[in-house]
Amino acid sequence: KHELKIGICGLGTVGGGTFNLLRSKHAELTRRVGMNLNITHVATRNPADSLKNSGVKVSTDVFAVANDPGVDLVVELIGGFEPALELVLKAIENGKHVVTANKALIAVHGNEIFAAARKKGVVVAYESAVAGGIPIIKALREGLAANSIQWLAGIINGTSNYILTEMGENNRDFPDVLKEAQAKGYAEADPTFDIEGIDAAHKLAILAANAFGTGLDFDRVYTEGISHITTSDIAYAEELGYRIKHLGISRITEQGIELRVHPTLISDQTLIANVNGVMNAVVVKGDSSGSTLYYGAGAGAEATASSVVADVIDIARSNRESCQQALIPPLAFDKLQGEMRI
Ligand code: HSE
Repeated sequence: KHELKIGICGLGTVGGGTFNLLRSKHAELTRRVGMNLNITHVATRNPADSLKNSGVKVSTDVFAVANDPGVDLVVELIGGFEPALELVLKAIENGKHVVTANKALIAVHGNEIFAAARKKGVVVAYESAVAGGIPIIKALREGLAANSIQWLAGIINGTSNYILTEMGENNRDFPDVLKEAQAKGYAEADPTFDIEGIDAAHKLAILAANAFGTGLDFDRVYTEGISHITTSDIAYAEELGYRIKHLGISRITEQGIELRVHPTLISDQTLIANVNGVMNAVVVKGDSSGSTLYYGAGAGAEATASSVVADVIDIARSNRESCQQALIPPLAFDKLQGEMRI
């Protein structure tokens, strides 16, 4: 089988980026993967005229893609819970693989989705759900597979980091920067998800499940955002040699796995304190690897599309194990050794 037939649901920021990337690099990707990665069907609310002449089937109903026998893999980029959950479950039921950037959906309904996928023997991949262009899920599942992870901590909401950076460096007002982040396509459809820490909590739940080999446990994430941070908080912190960063933190404690997102004071001497703008960074401490740091664009059409297409390629290579939620039992739940230093 030398063709993977791809259906894309949603052509917003990430969907548009994914469509363009798959089309513009088609020849190169075909050569690299040894398989034609063809978009055969897209669903979008308002199809552009250019799309109608692109040779791709166009629908306004996402379920037309999930039910299309001419689609092997459904890329879910509509976001939100409904109808995304129903769409993903329908695609799985029809024996199709799924790639999604939907962190809310995976964080809240991932356990149910993965169980359905395992039953059907299909893959649900979600690299793009966390930290945009950074291949952090693949790092946890593949690169660090030999480790017991002791903790991870990271800047995992680009919009919040952008706002905090601009408030600190340019003394700009919160609402003004938020508006800009929205205009640049960084913010969620409902930006309270970004500024109240909910988006970061979704991502932290996903990271922790992969790091510690557990199920998803979003409801347990302590969640606090940045909406109460003022420019003077940032200025005072700076005077004392600190930056205020919105972090997601998960670690093994004697009581179990700690999960929390909130603004944090970190020394301006650390690498992570100097991660600015829309950039994300995640530090992961493995027992053998030591601390490892992953840095890159946390949002934006192209960077996120890079991760979406990486999952498509993984599936095309039938590298199923590596991108499926495996719930690998950890080597051992080590107690946290020493202080946590990021
Ligand atoms: N709104 C998200 C962010 C998009 O700002 O990080 C990427 O998940």
